[in-house]
Amino acid sequence: MTEFLALEQRILEGLREHAQDAAAIDQVVADLYEQVSHYDWVGVYYREGDTLTLGPFRGAPSPHTTIPIGEGICGAAAREKSTVIVADVNADPRYLACSIETKSEIVVPLMDGDTCLGEIDIDSHRPDAFSAVDQEFLERIARALAPIVKQLNKT
Ligand code: SME
Repeated sequence: MTEFLALEQRILEGLREHAQDAAAIDQVVADLYEQVSHYDWVGVYYREGDTLTLGPFRGAPSPHTTIPIGEGICGAAAREKSTVIVADVNADPRYLACSIETKSEIVVPLMDGDTCLGEIDIDSHRPDAFSAVDQEFLERIARALAPIVKQLNKT
């Protein structure tokens, strides 16, 4: 999809041209939130031991600023070390509610080899909003973010 290709190029260029620090991660979160209409909440969680801790985010404040690995959809993705897409969050018993408006969710782990460093979590107000196109796009963004997260030394 052209929309994603152009955005991906802008994000990757930005990461190449600017300091690779926490502010760069915040900028990527902002770009995803502002540029993709079905991304209604975007956040990065960092893994710190057995816990995920909320880092930069855009959208309504979430009550879930820390999530144990294995809990929620976020914790499931971190434990499984693979992307989780939930088409209907209200039908998924793992779901930890953040906003009553959220209908679907995608969580993409940030991997360094076999180690999960954190994840990108995105909610949509639209049911079944996330496709394989979102997954492939976000997995490429995650591959670019992982080395920056690694430098933050959170784990
Ligand atoms: N829904 C997530 C919790 C985080 S909020 O969406 C921001 C989950 O089930 O893990």
